Amino acid sequence: MLTSRDLARSAPPDLLPGLLEAQAAGVGVAAASAGHQPGLPIGYGTAHAKVILFGEHSVVYGNSAVAVPMFNLQMQARAWRIDAPPRFESAYYSGELRHAPDFMAAPRAAIEAVVEQVGGSLDGLAVSLHGSIPIGRGLGSSAAAAGAIVDAVARLHGTELAENDRFALVQVAERVAHGKASGLDAYATTTPHPIRFREGLATVLTNCLNATLIVADTGVYGSTRQAVELVRTLRGRFRRRIDRVIEELGALAELAVSDLAGDRVQELGARMNRAQELLAQLKVSHPAIDRLVGAALKAGAFGAKLTGAGLGGCIVALAHADSVDAVTQALREAGAAQIWTLSDHGATA
Ligand code: PMV
Repeated sequence: MLTSRDLARSAPPDLLPGLLEAQAAGVGVAAASAGHQPGLPIGYGTAHAKVILFGEHSVVYGNSAVAVPMFNLQMQARAWRIDAPPRFESAYYSGELRHAPDFMAAPRAAIEAVVEQVGGSLDGLAVSLHGSIPIGRGLGSSAAAAGAIVDAVARLHGTELAENDRFALVQVAERVAHGKASGLDAYATTTPHPIRFREGLATVLTNCLNATLIVADTGVYGSTRQAVELVRTLRGRFRRRIDRVIEELGALAELAVSDLAGDRVQELGARMNRAQELLAQLKVSHPAIDRLVGAALKAGAFGAKLTGAGLGGCIVALAHADSVDAVTQALREAGAAQIWTLSDHGATA
């Protein structure tokens, strides 16, 4: 029998574990805007985390996905000029850009791409990146980092990027970080509204949902690159069966659009549960995810599922305001490493 471990082994190397090791070692905490001379401009950029409600993985194959912003967690970048070779400052690496380790390849790609886009120069450019979005938890940390960086560097050059240019630049970094990326994260980490995303197009959704989303972290690192590769390999071996699963995940996302607009929380919860079953069939769930999902449902959530690529990372549960405390408590007891409540999930109505 084919296990997810067998499939994961065939995946290309992941850049992020190096980043996690650096995080664990606590190396090189950067001084913000080091070397900046007073009076000279600083470009700023920010982006937030996102929660995929429906359509992770199936979106890679051209189906719809629904994502909501998560303002609790952010990435912030600054760009400024220094009298020294190009530098990058972050909690994980601080030093000359050209010596940045492999795990910094995606931010570096974002910097190089935006400099080219705005017709600027890398000479004497310093960029810093800080933020609270945990890495490898399905919350869009890499897209948010790239988005914050490209905005900061473009603004230093007096340019406000057009939406499609910004999207293309973030996608350059996403391809370095994850391989094939649908582009969902590139939009969802910028837009302050819930969105429906399909084949490169994002539309703002009406959200009348009178319920709370609770995001809980398994504490387990989940590699997006490996998860996407795993689904691709599975699909290569069991094409018809996996295509049916992928299509149903897309159909659930489409139905969820009207649930959100119509405040149909029970239906939305049931669809989340079905999506979780299907994602487990794609082998991207994990025992820690199953444990948290089970705990949330037992404590009265309408529905719960993994969010993002899976293989670890976070779950998202939907609960009535009255059961938020019970669900949160149950998630804590089931071992959640961190829990966030999204009271404002980009409501547009
Ligand atoms: O795990 P995240 O936050 O990178 O989300 C990945 C979403 C996928 O659908 C699995 C991949 C993609 O490119 O859309």
